[in-house]
Amino acid sequence: MTRYDDFHARSISDPEGFWADEAQLIDWHTPPTQILDASNPPFANWFLGGTTNLCHNAVDRHLAVRAEQPALIFVSTETGVEKTFTFGQLHIEVQRTAASLMALGVGKGDRVLIYMPMIPEAAFAMLACARIGAIHCVVFGGFASGSLASRIEDAEPKVVVSADAGSRGGKIVPYKPLLDEAIRLSNYKPAAVLLTDRGLAPMELVAGRDHLDRDLAAVHGDVVVPCTWLVSTDISYTIYTSGTTGKPKGVQRDTGGYAVALAASMKHIFDGRAGETYFSTSDIGWVVGHSYIVYGPLIAGMATILYEGLPTQGIDRQPDAGIWWRLVEKYRVTVMFSAPTAVRVLKKYDPALLKKYDLSSLRALFLAGEPLDEPTARWISDGLGVPIIDNYWQTESGWPIITIANGVEAKPSKFGSPGVPMYGYKVKILHEATGEELTGPNEKGVVVIEGPTPPGFMQTIWKDDARFVQTYWKSLPGKLVYSTFDWGVRDAEGYFYILGRTDDVINVAGHRLGTREIEESISGHANVAEVAVVGVADALKGQVAMAFVVPKAGDAVTDSDVALKLEGEIMKRVADELGALARPARVRFVTGLPKTRSGKLLRRAIQAVCEGRDPGDLTTIDDPVTLQKIGQLVVP
Ligand code: PRX
Repeated sequence: MTRYDDFHARSISDPEGFWADEAQLIDWHTPPTQILDASNPPFANWFLGGTTNLCHNAVDRHLAVRAEQPALIFVSTETGVEKTFTFGQLHIEVQRTAASLMALGVGKGDRVLIYMPMIPEAAFAMLACARIGAIHCVVFGGFASGSLASRIEDAEPKVVVSADAGSRGGKIVPYKPLLDEAIRLSNYKPAAVLLTDRGLAPMELVAGRDHLDRDLAAVHGDVVVPCTWLVSTDISYTIYTSGTTGKPKGVQRDTGGYAVALAASMKHIFDGRAGETYFSTSDIGWVVGHSYIVYGPLIAGMATILYEGLPTQGIDRQPDAGIWWRLVEKYRVTVMFSAPTAVRVLKKYDPALLKKYDLSSLRALFLAGEPLDEPTARWISDGLGVPIIDNYWQTESGWPIITIANGVEAKPSKFGSPGVPMYGYKVKILHEATGEELTGPNEKGVVVIEGPTPPGFMQTIWKDDARFVQTYWKSLPGKLVYSTFDWGVRDAEGYFYILGRTDDVINVAGHRLGTREIEESISGHANVAEVAVVGVADALKGQVAMAFVVPKAGDAVTDSDVALKLEGEIMKRVADELGALARPARVRFVTGLPKTRSGKLLRRAIQAVCEGRDPGDLTTIDDPVTLQKIGQLVVP
């Protein structure tokens, strides 16, 4: 056995011993007395009896040694702002925000919804919540009022933290009107809104509800706010993600398990060391931003770069596809984390941009969120000359499930495979219909995780244990196993290959979206009778959403002007309600959609014909002609 195989084997055969060792990587106010309670499967509770605090581990803990060292490096190529906060300064800012939240009545267990662009105040707010034991719920700033409203309703936040506006590619995106509309749409109303005014867009403040952060901080900010010690299983945050139904799921995470999982991953997977700089190009609205922009690097004592902007624009706001490499050189970045889509964007530019900067500090580039295609991996690997490490994981897991643990042993990578199961994860492949385990090489099945799930993994779905068990743990017959809802195979050497989702989730430019949510938005249009949304392969974005719409009777859309108008209206509707990310790339009008005889929409068959693949058994379809017609509408 190699060193890593041993490491993994111990984590499975002796999880309590293994994780008791890893728990030493963080500060505990009181150490745990019981490492794991798995007596009520599939629930796994870690580090019982222990008390700790995420903000303490991310900030306060480092003050003794690195108060003067950089902690948060903010770079906005949208506004031309570049600013570094040391651990000492971060400590002050976080307490200021915590004091303001407390002044608005926020305490332990209260929810705070954060709807923010990529600005330091967003990280301050997350850490401030962690500090006082409030549960944060960050909603991606690219989502529009409809998505935001459903999340406000589910999270029931006492306070919403937001800003006047974000900016994308030089275009100002006002957030405040979207937030106001979301609060109007939501049946639940937050008591207060805390706003950062960046001076990008005018804001109308609602008297008695809306507060500017600088005003509150001026009155309440200059106080010491100690960390509230939380028991390990107390909730740190919820983050919404898409699934099979239109209703988003609030993935709920604990405190102690998450802190340990992140600290361990920084050491064993990312091999990032205190005093160095970590650069993740993700967004705080996604799980990668939670784990590897904010908490992970800071817990490890690293500086973290918070980047607002496109990968192709410089700090002077002129086109510059070398900006990320310029930052790697300037801040001596050692570990970088991005998504294949971003690399595919950069690939269109001159590869000489990669050679222009001194990238000698960089040890590895991690890519995650969607399949990493071989040409993209080779291009960036040749350009950077450092290991490119594919990471497979999910919002639910909080940290990598399958990758290469370089900090333990630099096992060779294989193109097309993220690698091998990480320590703590018992990953298997099961037959979709029978639930039987597939052990042979290259047998395709559903990738599942056998419990108990490791620290850092989701605890449950917010307010809905039954949905958690039913959705994730009971989807395969006869077994209580966690389904990733991804297809996969394993080769003879135990490397996994991920082959796409088994459910209705699509992945657009590394962003996870539910086709059901998009369908619900489109169905709300007065002229739409029926709709199916599928993800179709796209060379740049991995996948794009494509909508097939049956218009209401009488709405003949054979006229191309009428069709064009309706397509435009549908696209706008989705962008307004859910956000531009969810807008279908194309809307096509059809007279019927393929269904099974029992009326189930055959999205997988539609997707197959769109991608020029065999749609499978046509005899199960009530009317195979509908599918042929769809095939004819798709011009590659
Ligand atoms: O389908 C898999 C795909 O993205 C899904 C999880 O997305 P999300 O919850 O947004 O979490 C992203 C965290 C990195 C997975 O179920 N996925 C993620 N990483 C990979 C991937 N597919 C192939 N290769 C990957 N490395």
